Amino acid sequence: MSTNTITSASAARGLATNHLLHIDSSIQGDRSVSRRLTARAAGVWLAAHPGGAVTYRDLGADPLPHLDSDGGLARMVAPAEHTPAQAVSWALTKELVDEVRRADAILLGLPVYNFGAPSTVKAWVDHLIAPGLSVDPATKEGLLGGRDLIVLAARGGGYAPGTPREGWDHAEQWLPHGISIIGLTPRFITAELTLADVTPAMAAFKPLAAESLAAAERAVDALWETDAIAA
Ligand SMILES: Cc1cc2nc3c(=O)[nH]c(=O)nc-3n(C[C@H](O)[C@H](O)[C@H](O)COP(=O)(O)O)c2cc1C
Repeated sequence: MSTNTITSASAARGLATNHLLHIDSSIQGDRSVSRRLTARAAGVWLAAHPGGAVTYRDLGADPLPHLDSDGGLARMVAPAEHTPAQAVSWALTKELVDEVRRADAILLGLPVYNFGAPSTVKAWVDHLIAPGLSVDPATKEGLLGGRDLIVLAARGGGYAPGTPREGWDHAEQWLPHGISIIGLTPRFITAELTLADVTPAMAAFKPLAAESLAAAERAVDALWETDAIAA
């Protein structure tokens, strides 16, 4: 089991609470910038939502299986007719969809690896897209909208307009399209040039990297400010 639900005393008593789904995907452990940002954001969310519950999933440590032919066919056959392998894949999809459905807010750590999203995040999105669970089979409407999806993105290079590799960050380009199928619209907070500190050839970019990280941290700290005032 790759999730861990932290439930406060009020949640345990069955009082109405808010629910945060916190997902990391970095493979870089304590060095991870996206983990640092998601942890900070989770702290800000908890401060603004006393009594809230947090469900945690670590895709980097506990990756989901690819959406293979069992999972693909499970989406084309009525659940009553699933083979045992299709039923296993469908049960995992249901678990992941339920995790999102329970959440009011979702934090997703999104590193850039090899110019794209980690394959573990792609697998998460592939599992989430399921007719009858997260997509209306008749209208194709996404059924999980209305949740706040905050993406804490980190990338080693710089891809700003006018830079030589403008447009090469396919993680930030892809995710809004992929996740739109279930009705979610991500908000991005991005720290870039994170490799400047550890790559001698990028030493000149250290000030820009520090500025980018500081701006990302300020943006994280400003999340849910209105909720905190209302609480
Ligand atoms: C396997 C691997 C591939 C990477 N590929 C890229 C890349 O294509 N472009 C880039 O800008 N940075 C790349 N990086 C650097 C990461 O984007 C950078 O370390 C970022 O901080 C990742 O987020 P994290 O710190 O949360 O893991 C790569 C890092 C790793 C470990």
